[in-house]
Amino acid sequence: MIDKDLVQIKVAGPNATVVTLPAPTNMSLSLMELLKGNGYPIQATCGGMALCATCHVCVLEGYEQVGEPASDAEWAMLDSLFNTTDTSRLACQVRIGHACDNMLVKILGDT
Ligand code: FES
Repeated sequence: MIDKDLVQIKVAGPNATVVTLPAPTNMSLSLMELLKGNGYPIQATCGGMALCATCHVCVLEGYEQVGEPASDAEWAMLDSLFNTTDTSRLACQVRIGHACDNMLVKILGDT
Protein backbone atom coordinates (compact mmCIF):
# COMPACT_ATOMS: atom_id res chain seq x y z
CA MET A 1 0.00 0.00 0.00
CA ILE A 2 1.29 3.45 -0.90
CA ASP A 3 1.19 6.07 1.86
CA LYS A 4 -0.06 9.29 0.29
CA ASP A 5 1.55 11.33 3.08
CA LEU A 6 5.08 10.08 2.35
CA VAL A 7 7.51 11.08 -0.37
CA GLN A 8 11.03 9.88 -1.12
CA ILE A 9 13.97 12.25 -0.82
CA LYS A 10 17.27 11.00 -2.21
CA VAL A 11 20.60 12.14 -0.78
CA ALA A 12 23.80 11.76 -2.79
CA GLY A 13 26.79 10.63 -0.79
CA PRO A 14 30.43 9.83 -1.50
CA ASN A 15 31.41 7.32 -4.20
CA ALA A 16 28.14 7.82 -6.12
CA THR A 17 26.04 6.36 -3.31
CA VAL A 18 22.45 7.48 -2.90
CA VAL A 19 20.38 7.09 0.26
CA THR A 20 16.59 7.30 -0.04
CA LEU A 21 14.77 8.84 2.91
CA PRO A 22 11.02 8.51 3.42
CA ALA A 23 9.67 11.95 4.27
CA PRO A 24 6.25 12.87 5.66
CA THR A 25 4.36 15.60 3.82
CA ASN A 26 1.89 16.26 6.62
CA MET A 27 4.27 17.54 9.33
CA SER A 28 5.39 20.82 7.74
CA LEU A 29 8.99 19.62 7.93
CA SER A 30 11.77 21.45 6.17
CA LEU A 31 14.35 19.56 4.18
CA MET A 32 16.93 20.68 6.76
CA GLU A 33 14.91 19.13 9.59
CA LEU A 34 14.53 15.90 7.62
CA LEU A 35 18.28 15.69 6.94
CA LYS A 36 19.24 16.52 10.54
CA GLY A 37 16.68 14.04 11.85
CA ASN A 38 18.32 11.35 9.76
CA GLY A 39 21.75 12.05 11.21
CA TYR A 40 23.29 14.23 8.53
CA PRO A 41 25.81 16.67 10.04
CA ILE A 42 24.03 19.96 9.40
CA GLN A 43 24.69 22.49 12.13
CA ALA A 44 21.70 24.76 11.38
CA THR A 45 23.10 27.34 13.76
CA CYS A 46 20.46 29.90 12.75
CA GLY A 47 17.62 27.51 13.49
CA GLY A 48 16.27 27.62 9.96
CA MET A 49 16.19 31.39 9.40
CA ALA A 50 18.26 31.42 6.18
CA LEU A 51 21.11 33.13 8.04
CA CYS A 52 23.91 30.56 8.41
CA ALA A 53 23.99 28.54 5.17
CA THR A 54 25.13 25.41 7.00
CA CYS A 55 22.16 23.67 5.35
CA HIS A 56 23.25 24.52 1.80
CA VAL A 57 22.33 21.77 -0.67
CA CYS A 58 22.65 21.35 -4.40
CA VAL A 59 19.50 19.90 -5.96
CA LEU A 60 20.77 17.38 -8.52
CA GLU A 61 17.34 16.22 -9.69
CA GLY A 62 13.96 17.88 -9.31
CA TYR A 63 15.04 21.50 -8.81
CA GLU A 64 12.13 22.88 -10.84
CA GLN A 65 9.58 20.92 -8.85
CA VAL A 66 10.79 21.86 -5.35
CA GLY A 67 7.81 24.13 -4.76
CA GLU A 68 8.35 27.58 -3.32
CA PRO A 69 11.11 29.40 -5.19
CA ALA A 70 13.98 30.88 -3.22
CA SER A 71 13.16 34.17 -1.50
CA ASP A 72 15.32 37.29 -1.84
CA ALA A 73 16.82 36.57 1.60
CA GLU A 74 17.70 33.02 0.56
CA TRP A 75 19.26 34.22 -2.70
CA ALA A 76 21.27 36.82 -0.81
CA MET A 77 22.70 34.15 1.47
CA LEU A 78 23.40 31.76 -1.41
CA ASP A 79 25.10 34.58 -3.33
CA SER A 80 27.54 35.04 -0.45
CA LEU A 81 28.85 31.45 -0.74
CA PHE A 82 31.76 30.51 -2.96
CA ASN A 83 30.28 27.15 -3.98
CA THR A 84 26.74 28.16 -4.92
CA THR A 85 25.43 26.32 -7.96
CA ASP A 86 22.57 27.10 -10.35
CA THR A 87 20.43 24.65 -8.38
CA SER A 88 21.50 25.52 -4.84
CA ARG A 89 18.96 25.88 -2.06
CA LEU A 90 19.03 26.37 1.68
CA ALA A 91 17.42 23.19 2.96
CA CYS A 92 15.74 25.06 5.79
CA GLN A 93 13.73 27.02 3.21
CA VAL A 94 12.45 23.95 1.36
CA ARG A 95 9.22 22.61 2.84
CA ILE A 96 8.69 18.89 2.30
CA GLY A 97 5.63 18.37 0.14
CA HIS A 98 4.44 16.16 -2.68
CA ALA A 99 6.35 18.34 -5.15
CA CYS A 100 9.60 17.13 -3.55
CA ASP A 101 9.00 13.48 -4.34
CA ASN A 102 12.13 11.82 -5.74
CA MET A 103 14.20 14.98 -5.43
CA LEU A 104 17.94 14.21 -5.32
CA VAL A 105 20.11 16.52 -3.23
CA LYS A 106 23.75 16.73 -2.29
CA ILE A 107 24.69 18.40 0.98
CA LEU A 108 27.28 21.16 0.47
CA GLY A 109 27.10 22.93 3.85
CA ASP A 110 28.69 26.37 4.29
CA THR A 111 32.16 25.45 3.08
S1 FES B 1 19.67 26.41 8.92
FE1 FES B 1 20.71 28.28 8.77
S2 FES B 1 20.49 28.84 6.71
FE2 FES B 1 19.40 26.99 6.85
